Amino acid sequence: MDFNSLMEICLHQLTLSGVNDSQKVIVLSQGAERLDYADAFLAAGQRLGARMYHLRLPAPVQGSGAWAVGATGLAANADAVEALKQADMVVDLIFLLFSPEQMAIQAAGVRILTAVEPAPLLARLLPTTELRERVEIGAHYLAKAKTMHITSRHGTDVTYKIGSYPTISEYGYTDTPGRWDHWPAAFVFTGAADDGVDGTIVLAPGDVLLPFNTYVREPVVYTIENGWVTDIRGGLEAELIKSYMGEFKDPRGMGMSHVGWGLDHRAQWHGLTQFGGGMGMELRSFYGNVMFSTGPNNELGGPNDTACHLDIPMRGCSLFLDGEPMVLDGDIAVKEMKAA
Ligand code: FE2
Repeated sequence: MDFNSLMEICLHQLTLSGVNDSQKVIVLSQGAERLDYADAFLAAGQRLGARMYHLRLPAPVQGSGAWAVGATGLAANADAVEALKQADMVVDLIFLLFSPEQMAIQAAGVRILTAVEPAPLLARLLPTTELRERVEIGAHYLAKAKTMHITSRHGTDVTYKIGSYPTISEYGYTDTPGRWDHWPAAFVFTGAADDGVDGTIVLAPGDVLLPFNTYVREPVVYTIENGWVTDIRGGLEAELIKSYMGEFKDPRGMGMSHVGWGLDHRAQWHGLTQFGGGMGMELRSFYGNVMFSTGPNNELGGPNDTACHLDIPMRGCSLFLDGEPMVLDGDIAVKEMKAA
């Protein structure tokens, strides 16, 4: 994408995020990654009169190949964390999510926007206030529920006892002090009580495995008891999932993480075919998907901070809160949450 177009979408982002001439915004990058994004955000923020600067960390020294969430270059840079705490807003071009440093920055009242997806996707899924309203309606329903029941014609039948952890909404921008969001995004989620998930989840062909960035071809059957995955069975994808999880040598990877549904009518289920280089935010957001996750729940305030994390958006599921349908066969079931 050319610089002017990138700058224009960053201007849209920062405007929705409430940036103005009274604010300080720090853009955080590492190595040679997304320096074009950094320049575009700096120029956009300057256009809005904000005090802008760019904090660039060195490239990470080693990579395991696995997507180990929560380990960032900020961990060894207490001075940098202190600087970031002084901002009104941080634009995260690294992916800080699940790190203690991100939590510390948010706790200081700083809002954080993560932007790491391919620029054409940022442009196509520009956040809107309309999308925010529908996501917040979903969050309202989720926050007051005690039970989530998910079913599918493929055999999924699982119950989450919810209400003990907060509800999180993601709508792709953030104008609220201390709040994090991710561009692009449009979904809501929460987590179950630590021992509060029981049942069976059956992945069907076309469901999505993140961070593998692949589609399931053969059914995968998860058995879940008291909040822990106790068995994973199926064909090739089941073997890949088990092999990947085994790489972490951490039994807490079998914990149940966040769960919720997607609301962006513009996001495409087939998005991986176009943006395989991204981290799958389009797949987390597509309209009527039900996404469950395994691994950490520290993002929600829970005790499990394992680095082994999978997000699995599923098609064609039904999701009920205290018996009331939110999603039916992959379509949004609540009138005011539906796309116009
Ligand atoms: Fe996740």
